[in-house]
Amino acid sequence: MKKKVYIKTWGCQMNVHDSSMIKNILKATNQYTIIDQPEISDILILNTCSIRENAQEKLFHQLGRWKKLKKKKTKTIIAVGGCVATQEGKKIYKRANFINIIFGPQTLHRLPKLLEQAYTNKKILIDIKEKSLKKFDHSINKEINKKITSFVTIIEGCNKYCSFCIVPYTRGKETSRNNKDILTEITSLTQIGVREVILLGQNVNAYNIYNKKSKKKYRFSDLLYEIAAIPKIDRIRYITSHPIEFSDDIIDAYKKIPQLTNFLHLPIQSGSNKILRLMKRGYTVEKYEHIIDKLKHIRPNMTISSDFIVGFPGETDKDFQKTLDCVSKINFDTSYSFIYSQRPGTRAEKLIDTTSLEEKKKRLFLLQNTIKQQALRWKRRMLGTQQSVLVEGFMKNNIHELYGRTENNRIIIFTGNSNLIGKLINVTVTNINYHTCLQGKINKINTYKILNTRSAS
Ligand code: SAH
Ligand code: F3S
Repeated sequence: MKKKVYIKTWGCQMNVHDSSMIKNILKATNQYTIIDQPEISDILILNTCSIRENAQEKLFHQLGRWKKLKKKKTKTIIAVGGCVATQEGKKIYKRANFINIIFGPQTLHRLPKLLEQAYTNKKILIDIKEKSLKKFDHSINKEINKKITSFVTIIEGCNKYCSFCIVPYTRGKETSRNNKDILTEITSLTQIGVREVILLGQNVNAYNIYNKKSKKKYRFSDLLYEIAAIPKIDRIRYITSHPIEFSDDIIDAYKKIPQLTNFLHLPIQSGSNKILRLMKRGYTVEKYEHIIDKLKHIRPNMTISSDFIVGFPGETDKDFQKTLDCVSKINFDTSYSFIYSQRPGTRAEKLIDTTSLEEKKKRLFLLQNTIKQQALRWKRRMLGTQQSVLVEGFMKNNIHELYGRTENNRIIIFTGNSNLIGKLINVTVTNINYHTCLQGKINKINTYKILNTRSAS
């Protein structure tokens, strides 16, 4: 009988994608089935993230709950993976000696072996080190990847060492995946219906392969051109890119690659140059604005979203005001903002932080409110306009209603039939709502054929 596995995931898209890779890998062995009830599982896997919080405490709370389950079902195997596992390693076992496996983001492909060993070996198994990106050799499983849109990791790790960030310590050095492997993976994805890829990486635009023979660099833009040339790829998105490496060849790609959406998520973090310097981000607000100006010159309808950190050590009211000014000036669409959280071992840990938590919360509230209002204005502007929408499927509770995403990542619902799924069509926005999805109607003239000529076959 197949063993039942429950996987709990914290954190970013990268982690969500790692967890779906774990699912693929385990399913491919034919020995495991993934379920969503921890109480009746034989194996409990926790994929942790430590980017913005004290995940250590959260981890032991979670493990405490699972300890109770293991008391009732003593043969349960518990595996802890992700960034906290890499950071803390054996220390986790010291506080929670009932766990069986500790694995890292780069060793998840060895889980089937580790699980096998865990059944015969009573000792803790720790496997967190791996320099290569071998895990991607296992990333596709045609059975469970029946989607219109799919994540594809192109680069892992980060060398930037922004002073606040733990990622370079947990995910290791920037390592680009082989371009041929990426292109093969995307081609196979199109064969099972995928029409949009979301390229993943801590800094996708740091992507770089050096060809020793030709002595040439193969860059992120080169990859974009090759992906765009794959038949049936109708949309290309990517997260996250970094302003430092947002070079002119990438901006130029927006002229030539229609599949690149009119939407970019480019983290700025702060509107104050003093804070950006302390964060060691490597650019100024002016440099950031210059990138956006150049992009908008090519794509006037482009919308931009961003990440912000408030309450970074040394941030004064004046600095914070600069962030608010920059939100309005750049006119960001939906963005993400967080209160600075001190991460162990990072350079910012040593900076003196005199701002009270109360003040930080006040700033976050102000910023989020500004962002919300602005995103709502962007939404309002969409009313009555025609949007290019990639149709992803039927709504769960209504088989007459389809849903898809606009270029600026908003879900839109409209009436239509199943042959539109996977097509890029024009939808007019008929209704907007503060909290929920947009509503729309398909234009009388069926424009999807026109939009899809590039990939029609
Ligand atoms: N590579 C991306 C960031 C990835 S981390 C970049 O270049 O910016 C995702 C987001 O988490 C960051 O953009 C940042 O806004 C937030 N973040 C990272 N570390 C943080 C910390 N210590 N405290 C608060 N927010 C943090
Ligand atoms: Fe973190 Fe900065 Fe890299 S935010 S992921 S160190 S670019």
